[in-house]
Amino acid sequence: MTDHPAHRDTPDTAPTDTPAAHHSDDAEARAFRELLRGLRVWDTELPSFDPETAPAEPLPLFRQWLREAAEAGVPEPHTMTLATADAAGDPNLRTLMLHDADERGWHFASHRGSRKGRELDARPRAALGFYWAAVGRQVRVRGPVTAAGPEESAADLHRRSTGALAAALVGRQSEVLGSVGELARASDAAWERARREPEAPVPSWTLYVLHPEEVEFFQGDAQRRHVRVNYRREGGGWVRELLWP
Ligand SMILES: Cc1cc2nc3c(=O)[nH]c(=O)nc-3n(C[C@H](O)[C@H](O)[C@H](O)COP(=O)(O)O)c2cc1C
Repeated sequence: MTDHPAHRDTPDTAPTDTPAAHHSDDAEARAFRELLRGLRVWDTELPSFDPETAPAEPLPLFRQWLREAAEAGVPEPHTMTLATADAAGDPNLRTLMLHDADERGWHFASHRGSRKGRELDARPRAALGFYWAAVGRQVRVRGPVTAAGPEESAADLHRRSTGALAAALVGRQSEVLGSVGELARASDAAWERARREPEAPVPSWTLYVLHPEEVEFFQGDAQRRHVRVNYRREGGGWVRELLWP
């Protein structure tokens, strides 16, 4: 399917007389653009998604899609992009692990003092993005975020692996690091403590729950007749609607 026109991006029509064009005209830049144009998406048989079969609420569909992504061999389907904004409204994002998705919302954890933690304190709203290439599916979740209390946060951390505890014990996330040696020393000490004290407290480690106000499911289609089903909270329930792709 590599030659399928539906999968090929239109060539750039880059201007030739600007400094930017000059700069990007060397062989390396050309090779890079060729590489990008040669890459394909969804070079595989995609599942179909009939929106008529979508449930009344997004949670069961999200759980089903994550399970199907895992079964289809998508690596790390429980990793996601978390987007936040700082106090001035500037956006930011990073990859995180999904810890759970239930009636309360989508759960993730991090340090309260990290950049994302400070952003969530200033502006407690966020968006999550999942992309599962092997099945051509994307899910977006948006809404307000609350921080769980210290007990629930600690319980969530201590249910996880020794490595997760060691990483949390290192702390100082998003601060400037002086050298890799400094990190190696802090990490060795954290691993040693995590093995010795599996319940070691990490006060800054916080479980967050994003309460969904909107959840969108996107099923890619080889002919680009992608299916988008958007759930919006309205009143006490969910409105489900199709979106143009
Ligand atoms: C696959 C993957 C999973 C990650 N999971 C987490 C996580 O669950 N919690 C976390 O704090 N950082 C996680 N990180 C690191 C974050 O992407 C990010 O570098 C870190 O949280 C600092 O972000 P910030 O400076 O915006 O606060 C993960 C990174 C990757 C690549």
